[in-house]
Amino acid sequence: MVWGCFCWSGVGLLWKVSGNLKINSYIDILENALIPSVDLHSLHSDWTFQQDNAPCHRSKGSKQWFGEQKIEIMNWPAQSPNLNPIENLWDHISLRIQEKSPSNHSELWNAILSTWDSIDINKLHTLIESMPQRCKAVIQARGGTTKY
Ligand SMILES: *[C@@H]1O[C@H](CO)[C@@H](O)[C@H](O)[C@H]1NC(C)=O
Repeated sequence: MVWGCFCWSGVGLLWKVSGNLKINSYIDILENALIPSVDLHSLHSDWTFQQDNAPCHRSKGSKQWFGEQKIEIMNWPAQSPNLNPIENLWDHISLRIQEKSPSNHSELWNAILSTWDSIDINKLHTLIESMPQRCKAVIQARGGTTKY
C-alpha cells in the first residue's frame, strides 16, 4: 500500500506503507510524508487537507494531531465514494503500472515512483477544478455514488 498527496503545484512525497494502516503509522506518514510535502510546495496557512473517512483518518489520535499542527480538514460525508480526487490518480497509476508489468516488489515500487513523478500537472489541475462539481454531485446524491 502507498500513501500520497497532491496539491495545485504538484504531487507530494510518496510513502510506502507496510502492513495495515494503524493509527500510529498514519501519524508517522503524516509526519514523514505530509509535512515534507507541505514544505516542498511551500504551503502556508491557506490550504485545507482532504481525506476520506477511513477509520485511521478519523481516529482521536489523528484528529488531535491535525489540531496540534493547525491543519484545516475538509468536512467529509460519512459515505464518500467519489469525492476523493486522489482515487482518480490511483486509477491512472494502476493502469500505467499494468503496462509496465513489474515482476517483483522492487520493480513495482520503481514503477509506482516513476509514474508518480511523471504525472502531468494539468491532470492535477483538472482534478482540483472538479471539486466544486464533485461536492455538488455528492450533495445531490445525498452522500451516495456519483459519476466521479
Ligand atoms: C526484480 O526483477 C528484475 C528483473 O527480472 C531483476 O533484475 C531484479 O534483480 C529483481 N529484484 C529483486 C529484488 O528480486
